[in-house]
Amino acid sequence: MRMYDLITKKKHGEVLTDEEIQFMITGYVNGDIPDYQMSAMTMAIWFNGMNDHEITELTKVMAKSGDMIDLSAIEGKKVDKHSTGGVGDKTTLIVAPIVAACGGKVAKMSGRGLGHTGGTVDKLEAIPGYRTVLDRKEFFDTVNKCGVSVIGQSGNLAPADKKLYALRDVTATVDSIPLIASSIMSKKLAAGSDCILLDVKTGSGAFMKTLDDSIKLAQTMVAIGEGAGRRTVALITDMDTPLGFGIGNSLEVMESMDVLKGHGPEDLTEVSLQLASNMLYLVGKGTPEECRAMAEKAIEDGSAFETFCTMVKAQGGDDAVLRDYTKFAQAPFKLDVVADRDGFITKMNAEEIGETSVVLGAGRETKESDIDFSAGLVLHKKFGDAVKKGDSLVTLYTSKEESLKNAERMYREAVTIGDTQPEKEPLVYARVEKDKVEKY
Ligand code: URA
Repeated sequence: MRMYDLITKKKHGEVLTDEEIQFMITGYVNGDIPDYQMSAMTMAIWFNGMNDHEITELTKVMAKSGDMIDLSAIEGKKVDKHSTGGVGDKTTLIVAPIVAACGGKVAKMSGRGLGHTGGTVDKLEAIPGYRTVLDRKEFFDTVNKCGVSVIGQSGNLAPADKKLYALRDVTATVDSIPLIASSIMSKKLAAGSDCILLDVKTGSGAFMKTLDDSIKLAQTMVAIGEGAGRRTVALITDMDTPLGFGIGNSLEVMESMDVLKGHGPEDLTEVSLQLASNMLYLVGKGTPEECRAMAEKAIEDGSAFETFCTMVKAQGGDDAVLRDYTKFAQAPFKLDVVADRDGFITKMNAEEIGETSVVLGAGRETKESDIDFSAGLVLHKKFGDAVKKGDSLVTLYTSKEESLKNAERMYREAVTIGDTQPEKEPLVYARVEKDKVEKY
């Protein structure tokens, strides 16, 4: 078999066989197939797609390229969650302890920030002392004790995806449904949970910019999960506007704790409750309505917040910062960006706002960059809000004073103030289950 012939087939829109997919992925992981041939293949897939059978096979081969984690040492039903990536998306920090406080088990491996999107592991590392690397036994023991543990992805989880993702990132082939679906689901299948809740983001800050594409991606991933024997549900949630007000690592931890303490932003609280209720539904805790009531109660009675603190302590973190935010390292420089006219916020480009946070130091400009945990933005006006000339639109935080000017210019370009108040967009657009799409 020759990779050249497989590229030619896909270039002409033909279907790859199971053996060909196996040959391609195994060869790429062990170095027999070079990056330049794999990039030609990913671009051919970007243009010509793959059928459902090819996507399922690609996912299985990628999942099996590394460890397939056996979670049977953890008692009870395990539920995983994955977001396709967003700006200000800190929902894992909220939903994981809610679900655990209600009796679900969350053994979660999360990723780092990618491009303009933040990553849960970076956010958790903003908590002094929190260890995101645990060995298998400590990971299982933490879930058995606290109901939840969130750690970084182990080096050998779907190594084929790790290599392929890095290649796609620099060859403009990330935004392809077969490639995103196989990338996400290979990691979810390898991570071993019984059930999977997918948060598929849609809009300017998401990889999928349209609702139709987001639903198609969700259906593809749900079919892969169910085909592999895992109960899988997807919610399509808005990422036209960043979620909540805080963007940046410690800022997002603080805002998540506000939600767990019952006084977080409305949009973030609502999306988190919908995600958490669906996770509880997947592990069989009751009807959707019962699960929603349970999730709300876990916030009201403080049990979700205490569960998060217990996990943080079990993983070496200092939970004092979660009770008193002034104990977080503070950014030495800040700047308010003010409105230059009266009107309404008629456009917020979430991707550009995410890029602004990277310039301030909240994300990585190169793979080697260090994150500044205190850097980021706190939005004061969001899509649809009325503004008066001179009102603060956002506060920028950084340790690099010289980045403020550029960040201010970027933020002004990302946000439009117009004359007419726009209609608010829904927070959750649809729910996708096996063979079923409910649009809201
Ligand atoms: N997240 C992933 O893990 N993979 C993708 O391809 C896109 C988002």
